[in-house]
Amino acid sequence: MTRRKLIAGNWKMNGSLAALAELDGIAAAAAAAPGIDVAVAVPATLIAPAHARAPNLAIGAEDVHQDDDGAHTGCVSAGMVREAGAAFTIVGHSERRSDQHETSHDVYLKAATAHRHGLKVILCVGETQQERDAGRAAHIVRAQTEESLPDDAHGDWLTVAYEPCWAIGTGRTPTMDEIAAIHAIIRAKLQQMIGDGASDMRILYGGSANPANAAEILALENVDGALVGGASLTADKFVPIIQAAKALSA
Ligand code: 13P
Repeated sequence: MTRRKLIAGNWKMNGSLAALAELDGIAAAAAAAPGIDVAVAVPATLIAPAHARAPNLAIGAEDVHQDDDGAHTGCVSAGMVREAGAAFTIVGHSERRSDQHETSHDVYLKAATAHRHGLKVILCVGETQQERDAGRAAHIVRAQTEESLPDDAHGDWLTVAYEPCWAIGTGRTPTMDEIAAIHAIIRAKLQQMIGDGASDMRILYGGSANPANAAEILALENVDGALVGGASLTADKFVPIIQAAKALSA
């Protein structure tokens, strides 16, 4: 089965109305690559203007609350981001797992709520440096996948992203063998959890992906795209990654 590649940006707590000009080049590159999917997650305040500026580009949220509404000061719901124009949301990013102490069970609830509100979901898993050093990377990734994935997860709406915490924003990436090994482990775990549907589910790599390493990473077996932080902030860095995926999908 061939899975369409997905190149997704994650702007994190970066960007501004002025920075949305970067979306023009990104949207043009996406339109020129009909064989792949391109998406950009932006801060909640930028979802509506980003969607207005690039209506044909999939704009997403970086997180949503697990509840539909209620007394959760400072949080944003799936319905709210959907109404603002988001097509998808990230859940379980390691920065939320660490900074906000989100558990895999929280992530499981967030993914299910997002889906119920019509959002596609990019669900992140990944080990810390300490866990990798202790030889526990495979165990952590299997456990996070098992505990975070909603019961009715399907490749139509859910994508898994493997993001080793120690590779995020550090300029360090795992070796190609290490990436391929973890992606195979995630594929096997998905197979165990959802059976044949596992072959339809995309698994992205994230962590210091950039124009120089994208082609090599994206060519690996079971790597169905990339989740890109720093290099997604400007069209000049993000577009070459889109083009690398396009070339592999031609
Ligand atoms: P960097 O690409 O900046 O390492 O960030 C990766 C990431 O966390 C994307 O969600």
